[in-house]
Amino acid sequence: MGKTIIISNRLPVQLQISNGGITAIPSVGGLATGMKSVHSGGDSLWIGWSGLTNEEIPEELEDEIDDALSKHGSSKVSLTEEEVEGFYFGFSNRTIWPLFHYFLEYSEFELDSWNTYKTVNKKFADAILEKADEDDTIWVHDYQLMLVPQMIREKRPNIAIGFFLHIPFPSYEIFRTLPWRKEVLEGLLGSDLIGFHIYDYERHFLSSVRRLLGLEVSFNDIYKGNRIIKVDSFPMGIDYKKFSEAAKKHGERSPEQHSELQQRLNKHKTSDPDAKFLLSIDRLDYSKGIAKRLYAFEYFLNKYPQYKEKVRLIILAVPSRSNVPQYQLLKREIDELVGRINGEFSTVSWTPIWYFYRSMPFENLIDLYTSSDIAWLTPLRDGMNLVAKEYIATRTDKTGVLILSEMAGSANEMNEALLINPNNFEQIADTIYEAINMPKEEQQHRNEQLQQRLRRYNVEKWAQSFMNSLLAQKERDAAHV
Ligand code: UDP
Ligand code: G6P
Repeated sequence: MGKTIIISNRLPVQLQISNGGITAIPSVGGLATGMKSVHSGGDSLWIGWSGLTNEEIPEELEDEIDDALSKHGSSKVSLTEEEVEGFYFGFSNRTIWPLFHYFLEYSEFELDSWNTYKTVNKKFADAILEKADEDDTIWVHDYQLMLVPQMIREKRPNIAIGFFLHIPFPSYEIFRTLPWRKEVLEGLLGSDLIGFHIYDYERHFLSSVRRLLGLEVSFNDIYKGNRIIKVDSFPMGIDYKKFSEAAKKHGERSPEQHSELQQRLNKHKTSDPDAKFLLSIDRLDYSKGIAKRLYAFEYFLNKYPQYKEKVRLIILAVPSRSNVPQYQLLKREIDELVGRINGEFSTVSWTPIWYFYRSMPFENLIDLYTSSDIAWLTPLRDGMNLVAKEYIATRTDKTGVLILSEMAGSANEMNEALLINPNNFEQIADTIYEAINMPKEEQQHRNEQLQQRLRRYNVEKWAQSFMNSLLAQKERDAAHV
């Protein structure tokens, strides 16, 4: 068996040019953090975009860039500024992302962006074709590259191709509004196996294939010419050990060894041992419901005023896709809301919201997870949401409460969390109250079950089951022909 070629828009690291040299910073987002763990353990090559446009790369740094990437088992696809604009900020993030997250009103249908999306998908496909041997396995990731499977299939009819979608696949009624809906489906059907996080997304996809392409679908098999394409759900897990061990080490450190952030958190904890930290971590994205969460927090403080000066909301919003107007507007809205709520409720000794607009190193993520009594995640739509799983994995003494939106894919596997509808402020306020007052034994009982499940179905297992299923499908399809 040959190597595995992973292909996604984001590589495990993003390159930046500073002081005339190259710096590699870890990529943010579930795809990169999850696949990184899979990639580091095996014989794989990861192809993707470096994060820099051709115009930004001086000729003399070309080799240094290739070297920096090869240290991470990666190889780059070069993109011009115009391509990044049309493909990444354009079709991927102004058309598909909002549409697939049910923000139909944000979706723009621009022919130029679609054409650039096709050109860039071709570039990715060519980069694979250049590196792939016949016995290799190709694993294509996410909505930025939905045409790649068919582009490879045309040139290499027998090579094994898997595709995994990290975001929701919307219902047929939403998907059908896309002008290029058939081309997108055809692109995906170049794969042998198409994977989704949960069964609902799979079901929506199969229904679109049946209704838009008129293909025969039997259970989770699609019949196309002389090929059978398998569709299945594989809920993505986390690198459980990495998070639980980091949390354990964190707990063993003496206070002097703590990070600056942890020392600040400790200070607040000791000054008021009854005070509670509520934590939310997301990319600054409208699908994550950050603005609604702030309104809900205000609602909670008004409904349960006894928690003023007792509860603090820590919001870590990681900058994301800031060239897209909706993200800029959202940033402004959140800044204003935080300012207004803090202005309204702050006292000399208490600020209700701590707001960080940046990405944090792993060590600080662990500080936040382990110091927070409650994780409160309210996406309006989310393919999976790994932050929810990471929070649970770091709770070494099994205390802590997870309040999670039922619109997140991860809610399917996390029934022991307190599940809420992110639009129902009354329910949210009561759930925060319940979380604050939940007996320790109940917290531990719930987290025990969650931890067992997350430990068992970790990211490695996820990748293994996808790969096993892909290879089995390849054999089955070969026998069918
Ligand atoms: N994350 C990170 N740096 C940060 C904040 C978050 O690397 O400063 C990671 C986090 O640990 C998680 C991922 O980003 O693994 C977010 O994944 P999730 O599935 O929750 O959401 P996505 O961003 O993929 O929509
Ligand atoms: C989600 C998507 C990924 C993407 C990540 C970060 O997790 O499913 O494909 O990489 O968000 O977004 P960005 O646009 O920065 O790559």
